[in-house]
Formats: sequence, structure tokens, C-alpha cells
Amino acid sequence: MHLKGRLVLASMEEHTTLPFRLIAKELGANLVITEMGQPDRIAKGDKMALRMLASNPSERPVAGQVLGGELSDTVEAARVIEGRGFEIVDINLSCPIRRVIGRGWGGAYLKDPRRTAELLSRVVAAVRVPVTLKFRSGWDAGSINAPEIARLAEEAGIAGLILHGRSVVQAYAGPADWSILRTTREAVRIPLFGAGDIRTPQDVLRMLEETGCDGVSIARGCLGNPWIFSRARSALSGNPMPPPPTREERLRVLLRHLDGETRFLGKRDVSTRIVRLALYYAKDLPDFKEIKGVAHSARNYDELVRSLRVAFRG
Ligand SMILES: Cc1cc2nc3c(=O)[nH]c(=O)nc-3n(C[C@H](O)[C@H](O)[C@H](O)COP(=O)(O)O)c2cc1C
Repeated sequence: MHLKGRLVLASMEEHTTLPFRLIAKELGANLVITEMGQPDRIAKGDKMALRMLASNPSERPVAGQVLGGELSDTVEAARVIEGRGFEIVDINLSCPIRRVIGRGWGGAYLKDPRRTAELLSRVVAAVRVPVTLKFRSGWDAGSINAPEIARLAEEAGIAGLILHGRSVVQAYAGPADWSILRTTREAVRIPLFGAGDIRTPQDVLRMLEETGCDGVSIARGCLGNPWIFSRARSALSGNPMPPPPTREERLRVLLRHLDGETRFLGKRDVSTRIVRLALYYAKDLPDFKEIKGVAHSARNYDELVRSLRVAFRG
């Protein structure tokens, strides 16, 4: 697996849809990943699950992610993802959601290295494209096993790793532990991308320096802030970092994102999801509260767009 750069748009449910992936790509992400697909639904050809695997040549290379579930469904889902033209199949063994781990899926796999090894080797054997693994430092603070999982993944033929420096039990709370990224980097030869707490371009440089990771995966830090990719890219190539986006630029990308997202969802309304998406782009502005008020009082999509135009122009 060879990437042209070191910046990955992390997989995020409800966020890394095709419209947002295209924006991140244009602004400098070197690899984008779909949100996680449900293995059982993809395997049985569920229409909604397949819709989430919509892709577009201009976002390539793109990885299609499947949540690690029952063995046969996960293997079949990987074949479906490959069949839809994705360059990479990414397996998610990091999801901490209760109903997921309750079924022994996602992050629950990390409790059982043998079961993990079997799943990974079966998926690798089933497809021709590279298979990557998204995982966490371990199940909980008392069972940190990322280096062991990384080694068995490498033996199973996994082409690259994305490691989130939090345990499954920790979910998203508290700081990520970057020292486990370094230890795991040293345990294997395949590429390892670090994840957790990247909020600024400076964090990208710091993670690379402190952990020796081959690249970084950017998650919450790019919500409403896809410019983190273009700015980090400049910083990585030693060029002066572009300033943060102007209000005009934020508005331009926000409107494009809203347009893409509502087309993708097939309806133009002011759902909670759409309002939340718009507000991410305003979160760093001094008049965030006013913009929030305006967005929440919009009665329909056109009104939302009109009022955002006025509010962002300040
Ligand atoms: C809203 C949300 C949804 C997420 N969905 C997924 C997912 O579908 N697949 C996945 O592998 N990770 C998912 N993650 C985890 C992120 O990819 C990332 O590993 C994690 O947020 C740590 O990075 P951060 O501290 O920079 O946010 C999600 C995270 C968030 C906040």
C-alpha cells in the first residue's frame, strides 16, 4: 500500500459521507475512508447500507470501511466493498458503541487476539485489494495490547494500520495516549497511522515527530474545519502555513457541503443533522451564539441558507 502523503480523513459515522470526503480530498487529504458499514446489512445487499458505499472516482484512493462483525458476514461485506471499486477494505475493530460490543463486534474483538487473527486472515484471503485495520490501544486500561494485535495483523497479511490511542472502554473521553502509537510503530514493519486528538496542523507535526507514525488520521479536528488538511499539508512540505479560512471561505465550503449532503440524503430539509453540520463551520467564530440562533430558527432549507449567508458575512 503506497500513499502519496501522510494525511488521512478518519472514518466518522454520519460525517464522512461522499460530499464531505470530496471536500477533504480537494483540500489535501491523501486517503479518505467511508463511515463504517454494517457487515450483516452489506452482506445481504440492504439498499441503505449499499447507498452509504456510494463513491466517486475523484475521491480516490478511498477505503470502504466495514465494522468487524460475524465472520462470514464480514468476509462477504469485504467482497462487496471490493466489488464496488474501493482501493482498500478497512476493518473496524475499534467501535465502542454498546450495542456493537454487546454482540462481540467492533472493539470487543480486541479482547480476543485469536478471534481477531482469524477474522483478519479470512478477510485478507477473500479479497485482492489491500486490507487495513482500524483498532484501539486495547480493550481497557488493564489490557493494552495494541503491539500484539498489530503483530498478528501483520502476520495475517494486513497492509496498514490505523491506531486510535484510546482503549475501547475509554471511548472518546480523556486524552489519547500517543506513547502506545510509538510502541506499536516499533513492533511492526507495515505502515501505521496514528489517531487521537489531532486538532491543529501543529498537532500533525507533533504526532509524527513524537510517535514515528507514517501518517496521521484526522477525525473530530476536521469537522467544520477541512482546511486542517491544506494547512497541515503546507506545514509538512515546509512551506509557510496558510492563515485560517476567512468567513467568506468558510461560507463557500459550508454551502457546498450542505448542498452535497442534502442531495446525497435526497431531501432538502432542516434536520438536526443539517443544522449541526452548518454549526460546525461556525464553532470558532466570535458570533457563534448568534449564528446558532439563526440556524435553529430557520423553518426550511432555503431559509437556513439565506440566513447563513447573512450571518457569515457578519
Ligand atoms: C462522531 C464520530 C463517529 C465515528 N465513527 C467512526 C467510524 O464509523 N469508524 C471508525 O473507524 N471510527 C469512527 N470514529 C473514530 C474516529 O475515526 C477517530 O479514531 C477518533 O475520533 C479519535 O480521533 P480524534 O480524537 O481526533 O477525534 C468516530 C468518531 C466520532 C467522533
